[in-house]
Amino acid sequence: MDSDTRILHALIAQPEGYVNGQDLAEQLGMSRVGIWKRLQKLSESGLQLTAVRNRGYRITREPEQPLQSLMNAWLYRENVSMPVHWHASIGSTNTEAQRLLAEGSETPFAVASAEQTQGRGRMGRRWHSPSDGNLYISFAFQPSLPPKRMQTITLFFGLRLCIFMNQRYGLPVQIKWPNDLLLNGKKVCGMLTEARVDADAIRDLIFGMGLNINCETSQWPEEVRRMATSLRSVRGERLPFHRLTAELTGLIEESYQHFLRSDTRQLLKEWPDYDCLHGRTLNFERNQKTITGVGEGIDTQGCLLIREASGKIHALNAGEVSIGSGNLE
Ligand code: BTN
Repeated sequence: MDSDTRILHALIAQPEGYVNGQDLAEQLGMSRVGIWKRLQKLSESGLQLTAVRNRGYRITREPEQPLQSLMNAWLYRENVSMPVHWHASIGSTNTEAQRLLAEGSETPFAVASAEQTQGRGRMGRRWHSPSDGNLYISFAFQPSLPPKRMQTITLFFGLRLCIFMNQRYGLPVQIKWPNDLLLNGKKVCGMLTEARVDADAIRDLIFGMGLNINCETSQWPEEVRRMATSLRSVRGERLPFHRLTAELTGLIEESYQHFLRSDTRQLLKEWPDYDCLHGRTLNFERNQKTITGVGEGIDTQGCLLIREASGKIHALNAGEVSIGSGNLE
């Protein structure tokens, strides 16, 4: 761990209190002047520090742009063991993760960026990824699982993300099958899972997510504001970007282990609580045909269940679903 990360780790370990310069120097085996110089440099990167005579230092505001050493300090504090490769800007974190896998990088690992110039969404769509306080991150794994489990991993991670955002930050995030997270009915996160599959096993798998954290939505065009949102605009204040990123990385690391050990029972049990399609009238587009019915959750394969007015239930594994008006019931 470099000295900036160690200093910042000592500071975030005492969020309310001050850390005495002399204690810090002794703890880290540095001189007081050495510590002061490092903190001076860090504040040039946008980190706001308060220094009080006889009490010490305290972080009063994190920088708006991600700061690698602060990120590392939070990853350490959250006990995250997978390496996270940080970029200020990159084409696509999923593509970079594919490149690292092809190079033989050991899994698991993550690639994160503050901006993407060629962000990719589902169905070959572009994922607009400005440097605006959002998180673009991809996790690479080599699960050696049967390919049929691919379908449920995005749902599993998505559900865990919902539970975490509800419990930890009180934000009522819900999942919209198959790959969106919504907040107050508007898209706040998109997920994209890509895998290379051998005949009978998943060789490697990349789970990418783009999460609108601190972007300011008031400047967005009206039609975008109707469809999408950010955590900040619902919470009414900025979220601690570095801390949240480390927490989410820890969550995905742990959820992956959980996924390997579990079957779909737990997913099916918790799904209704966070499923924004449940009991809603849905229109499902497939092969230029529309199926209209009520959302009835998912099955063990991760297929969306829709019940038509005739009572016929469809299990749908791919396609576009939209929420219609009113309830059929
Ligand atoms: C979608 O809703 O269509 C999925 C969007 C997924 C976007 C994320 S951002 C991080 C990762 N890198 C990419 O290029 N795409 C995913």
